[in-house]
Amino acid sequence: MSVPAPAATAGLVDAFGRVHTDLRVSVTDHCNLRCSYCMPLDARFRPAAELLSFAEIERVVRVAAEAGIRTLRLTGGEPLLRPGLPDLVGRLVGIAGIEEVALSTNGLLLAEQAAALAAAGLARLNVSLDALDPQVFAAVARRPGLERVLEGLAAARRAGFRDIRINAVSIRGLTEGEIVPLARHCRAAGLQLRFIEFMPLDGESAWSGAQVLGGADVRAILAREFGALEPLPAADPGQPAVDYRYPDGGTVGFIDPVSAPFCGRCDRLRLTADGQFRNCLFSTTEWDARAVLRAAHPPADEAALLAALLRDCVAAKRAAHGIGTPSFARPERAMYQIGG
Ligand code: 5AD
Ligand code: SF4
Repeated sequence: MSVPAPAATAGLVDAFGRVHTDLRVSVTDHCNLRCSYCMPLDARFRPAAELLSFAEIERVVRVAAEAGIRTLRLTGGEPLLRPGLPDLVGRLVGIAGIEEVALSTNGLLLAEQAAALAAAGLARLNVSLDALDPQVFAAVARRPGLERVLEGLAAARRAGFRDIRINAVSIRGLTEGEIVPLARHCRAAGLQLRFIEFMPLDGESAWSGAQVLGGADVRAILAREFGALEPLPAADPGQPAVDYRYPDGGTVGFIDPVSAPFCGRCDRLRLTADGQFRNCLFSTTEWDARAVLRAAHPPADEAALLAALLRDCVAAKRAAHGIGTPSFARPERAMYQIGG
């Protein structure tokens, strides 16, 4: 007697045919910096009891992996502020279907934690670094910390991380002078630099289009120093970054969500630290996974309820964020409350 093949899972496909394979999991809204593009100076954080426990995150990720999620990225806030993060990494890398667990961090605590993260099975690191001048760093982050980030990067390489990405948010009137130094530093150090356009997710709702230093402007600044950049075909269709090659070799990436939205190839979903599914950074609706996790259900029912919630979240995803259109509405949450 032949065993029937398992039913083909359709995956997490939305109304526009986009297949969702990546889940960003925020583990805390706390941060040890106060970047102007992300949080207000007087940020208020959720009480610990409102954050999902590691066991709860693991239960959600099992369901998400069953539904079609293949890659995870841990974010915050600053994820390394969550005690015991390597334990969570270890739990998540073991889940069937999960192919890669990555981390986005500001790097301040990386020196202490890089070795434990590598040992737990973390595959990739993105480190935020917007400026190499300590004064500009502190103007953006509204706290000092540059030296610790650089120490963290060195520790990450000693721990064996390769292809470390540097995310640099560009802000007009603030970071122009950092672009060439960042490019030089990353080229010399073998770090994969990516410039990101400032999106309207700041904590003080002060964003204006005039502050967006567009990818094209950044490329022009780089071209004056290094020669014309040449765009490369995307290695991975889901990746938001477009890589460009310097005339003398090496590449630099651009994430241009404002000037060149990539919503049409978005493959991401999000889980906030307080357990809400979101289908977009700019979602104005959330799906409450924490309520399901904390209600009394038999385990099988919980999984089915979470899977249904995730499918509803995907089904409701809009075609595009609509920044710059008359109907655009900022989400209530700022970046640190969503997860980058
Ligand atoms: N616009 C663009 N990028 C942002 N980030 C945080 N807030 C914003 C914003 N308003 C970036 C961080 C980090 C990544 C996770 O998101 O710098 O690198
Ligand atoms: Fe913290 Fe990252 Fe937000 Fe900066 S961007 S305040 S480092 S969470």
